[in-house]
Amino acid sequence: MDSSNLPAPPGGTWPTLDPGWVWLVGAGPGDPGLMTLHGLNALRQADVIVYDALVEPAILDWARPDADRIYAGKRGGKPSAKQRDISLHLVELAQAGRRVLRLKGGDPFVFGRGGEEAQTLVQHGVPIRIVPGISAGIGGLAYAGIPVTHRDINQSVTFLTGHDQTGATPTSVNWAAVSEGAQVIVMYMAMKHLAGITAALIDAGRAPDEPVAIVTRATLPDQRVLETTLAHAVDDAAAAAVDPPAIVCVGRSVLMRQVLDWTGMMAGEPVRNPDPLGRGRPAEQA
Ligand SMILES: C[S@@+](CC[C@H](N)C(=O)[O-])C[C@H]1O[C@@H](n2cnc3c(N)ncnc32)[C@H](O)[C@@H]1O
Repeated sequence: MDSSNLPAPPGGTWPTLDPGWVWLVGAGPGDPGLMTLHGLNALRQADVIVYDALVEPAILDWARPDADRIYAGKRGGKPSAKQRDISLHLVELAQAGRRVLRLKGGDPFVFGRGGEEAQTLVQHGVPIRIVPGISAGIGGLAYAGIPVTHRDINQSVTFLTGHDQTGATPTSVNWAAVSEGAQVIVMYMAMKHLAGITAALIDAGRAPDEPVAIVTRATLPDQRVLETTLAHAVDDAAAAAVDPPAIVCVGRSVLMRQVLDWTGMMAGEPVRNPDPLGRGRPAEQA
């Protein structure tokens, strides 16, 4: 049965969310339009939706009116017992024959514990489907006018989380290696330990004046972007009263905002610098 009411995809039908299944779906970084069609198809069928704190509430309006909506928000660094409860609750719901949608912000497998939840489900014999989403570290930066890769800037990008399971700065991150090898660094959940992280990067050799952007509430109408440098990021963020959720981008990609701040342009702001990398020739010329 295709109860999604979506136009059929070319050459096929939308998958059916059957009773006893759990679909782990990425809701994207905020703007509801960034959800995938598979995600919408899931929302139209689920009879129970277990959703996270960073799922934009408007997205739930697309769910069936009679669907149960269960909030499973958790803050980073809290004890893992709660994660276990969430995972086991998903198992129980599936075993009760519900059509379960586990809706997570961004992409479920990017710093979202989707892998842990999916593994628990599989270990309990619950069939799953994974629906990727647009991660905040890519889509959120795009809304800030920052291309996560650019041929003249980087051939690689490093994604980091600013804290580990205990809430501390991740000790497994080799800051010296990151400093030396990462052309552009995109950090999730980095605000709490921003002082330690920026200091570690500078100590390991990163230039104190390297551009940094802090994008809060990315893709949403109240998105804010703070442009700063590694050395000034902490003070500037405090002065601007920057509040999570935030993505922190370190690298020359941030300069591209001077020409690609498309949300600013839509609001009538002028292009600050059409050639922020100082190439001296049009972008279309290699
Ligand atoms: C638990 S992680 C989840 C990441 C998510 N799975 C993803 O792929 O985007 C939560 C962190 O993602 C980042 N984040 C998620 N949505 C965001 C948004 N709209 N604006 C800025 N940062 C966001 C923040 O760093 C936040 O602390």
